[in-house]
Amino acid sequence: MKKGILIFTLLFCSVLLFMNMDVKKKDKVEELLSKMTLEEKIGQMNQYSSFFDATGPAPKNDGYQKERYEHIKNGLVGSMLNVRGAKQVREMQKIAVENSRLGIPLIFGFDVIHGHKTVFPIPLAEAASWDLEAIQNGARVAAIEAAAEGLNWTFAPMVDISRDARWGRVMEGAGEDPYLGSQIAIARVTGFQGDDLSANNTLAACAKHFAGYGFAESGKDYNTADVGTSTLYNVILPPFKAAKDAGVRTFMNSFNELNGIPATGDKYLQRDLLKGKWNFKGFIVSDWGSIGEMIAHGHAADGPHAAELALRAGSDMDMESHLYIHQLKSLIEQGKAKEAHIDEAVKRILQVKMDLGLFDDPYKYCDEAREKELIYHKDHRAAALDMAKKSIVLLKNEGNLLPLKKEGESIAIIGPLANDKNSPLGNWRLGSEDNIAVSVWEGMSEYNKSNKLELAQGVRLIDENPNFPSHVKINYTDKNGMDEAVKLAKKSDKVILVLGEHGYQSGEGRSRSDIGLPGLQQELLEKIHAVNPNIILVLMNGRPLALPWADENVPAIVEAWQLGIETGNAVAEVLYGDYNPSGKLPMTFPRDVGQVPIYYNYKNTGRPGPKNEVFWSHYTDMTNDPLYHFGHGLSYTTFKYSNLKTSINKENKKVTVEITIKNTGDYDGTEIAQLYIRDKVATITRPVKELKGFQKLELKKGESVNHTFTLTEKELGYFDNQGEFMFEAGDFDIMVGGSSKTELSETVNIAW
Ligand code: GLC
Repeated sequence: MKKGILIFTLLFCSVLLFMNMDVKKKDKVEELLSKMTLEEKIGQMNQYSSFFDATGPAPKNDGYQKERYEHIKNGLVGSMLNVRGAKQVREMQKIAVENSRLGIPLIFGFDVIHGHKTVFPIPLAEAASWDLEAIQNGARVAAIEAAAEGLNWTFAPMVDISRDARWGRVMEGAGEDPYLGSQIAIARVTGFQGDDLSANNTLAACAKHFAGYGFAESGKDYNTADVGTSTLYNVILPPFKAAKDAGVRTFMNSFNELNGIPATGDKYLQRDLLKGKWNFKGFIVSDWGSIGEMIAHGHAADGPHAAELALRAGSDMDMESHLYIHQLKSLIEQGKAKEAHIDEAVKRILQVKMDLGLFDDPYKYCDEAREKELIYHKDHRAAALDMAKKSIVLLKNEGNLLPLKKEGESIAIIGPLANDKNSPLGNWRLGSEDNIAVSVWEGMSEYNKSNKLELAQGVRLIDENPNFPSHVKINYTDKNGMDEAVKLAKKSDKVILVLGEHGYQSGEGRSRSDIGLPGLQQELLEKIHAVNPNIILVLMNGRPLALPWADENVPAIVEAWQLGIETGNAVAEVLYGDYNPSGKLPMTFPRDVGQVPIYYNYKNTGRPGPKNEVFWSHYTDMTNDPLYHFGHGLSYTTFKYSNLKTSINKENKKVTVEITIKNTGDYDGTEIAQLYIRDKVATITRPVKELKGFQKLELKKGESVNHTFTLTEKELGYFDNQGEFMFEAGDFDIMVGGSSKTELSETVNIAW
């Protein structure tokens, strides 16, 4: 009894202490705000990118750099991005803290998107692992390395859902599904922020791009997004809400207009929904220059008007449009802007800096010894390798061409990406160095010395070697090397063909109208196939590709995305069968770009098919079916699903779904069992299928397991066109399987 009272008292005191600390921080923010001039407040809302090295001489005397330097010195900058290295951050922080009147520390942001120095697989690849623990750990490792370099804020996770493989930034997200995207958003926010934001190995995270950016018309980056309310509330917003509920400390609004209003100036999105209904307490940063871009959008008449609209809409910090710092003071003086809005923005920004511990010690993230000790740490590479293996998706394996025999085989490794050490790093590797990936050739030749491996490039993929951020010029003419590659293929037992996209063919500003193999790669593929059909096609790409010929003719196809620094080692372990592939597609692969947007959770329409007539929803020249469907991914073993059983508990309003999964093949393996529902009759029509649960199961060969999923109103309900969540009793299809082409289904009437 006494022990119980003691424990309760201790707990009660710690809660009080915690709340008290929280109140103290809020008081400190209020107290600091009360001392600030209007200019200093506006300075906190101003963010610059750094292209100069603060440790060197003062920036070049061109006006642009000099003004930034002066603004930092005078407390007119709240944040910097793109400052790299503990030393540089320390020097820049000193300029602000030791020169400005109130010594308010800067917050340093950076695009830590998939790893920092140790580059992890691109986010779309990580999503293919469906491994929330590994994804969270990847964000954790990235935070450790970025924080060791002095950074305290990452512009990640990008949680934009997209159904359009033409859009370059699908590489940066979690694919087409809001449920998977929400779970991954939570994992990434938790990984970046940890459980103590003031620790010197965690980062404030940023849910971006709010909102609708992934629905850019025709897949063109920055293009208009015009979506219905049902798609907005049920597809686009859920991952943002999940990130907010996971405690993400910042949001970034998006470049696009959403239903006629640029997101940066959208008061409903930012003030009414995010800060109001969702009660978000962090701050919102604009995307690069997006405040000023409202002029081009035709929403703002000029710079002052753009600043006025953005502030009113709830955009707290201005990334690189320089409009807040130059316009807000006069807008206040003219009565066109409210100082209360400025105070609210500044309090949000100061609170995050407080929680990061920057007021306690502005230099706590700037320890060069830690930096040296932690970046590229062997444990980080091991985590990157683990993530890479889990991200690989086996798309096809006819005749079990894979796994490779470990001896006595001559294997040709061919293709423009076969020995590319750069493209596997993907587009967002700014924090690291170029050409540090283990190439497929390096990984394969290092992994097994008992087979005879030979390398041939076949064709060059690009005409010249671009540096970021220039456009990639694809080689369509120089066939030099093709004959040599064909000769090598002809005399080899098997061919590993490494084809796909250059690392800068996807990412921001890199949409493609054609999502086939770029350049001369298809010609190379067909010429190789003509002399040796024993091809293992290893794809290295940042988006779903349309590869109908390959699917028709190539016996084994492996989706290896852009796997980061450990690419070659991960591919080798999988091709040799020492890691049995377990990845599942987070995004549908079209058969043809003409099918885009194509996704699994489509609506049935009033004229579903197929029908032996013309009057149904279809193309006359192409099937409706994708090349590879959402959730698809094979293994070297096979899995059987049986004994689907659902039961409804009316008291606690839960549906349990039991399933038996058996490993019926010859290899131990991991299966990602997926649970889908269909609400068959609803006031707002529901998709034919919606992912509402998944579980990674490791099963030894012959082993079977019973797994139970649970469904509540949270999974069974949906948002109506006013954004109100609702559950409607009625018939539901409950479906389970190893992909969205589910094996078992049962219709149940759910009512309580
Ligand atoms: C970019 C991107 C955004 C990124 C920001 C800072 O234009 O849209 O995702 O975080 O600028 O680099």
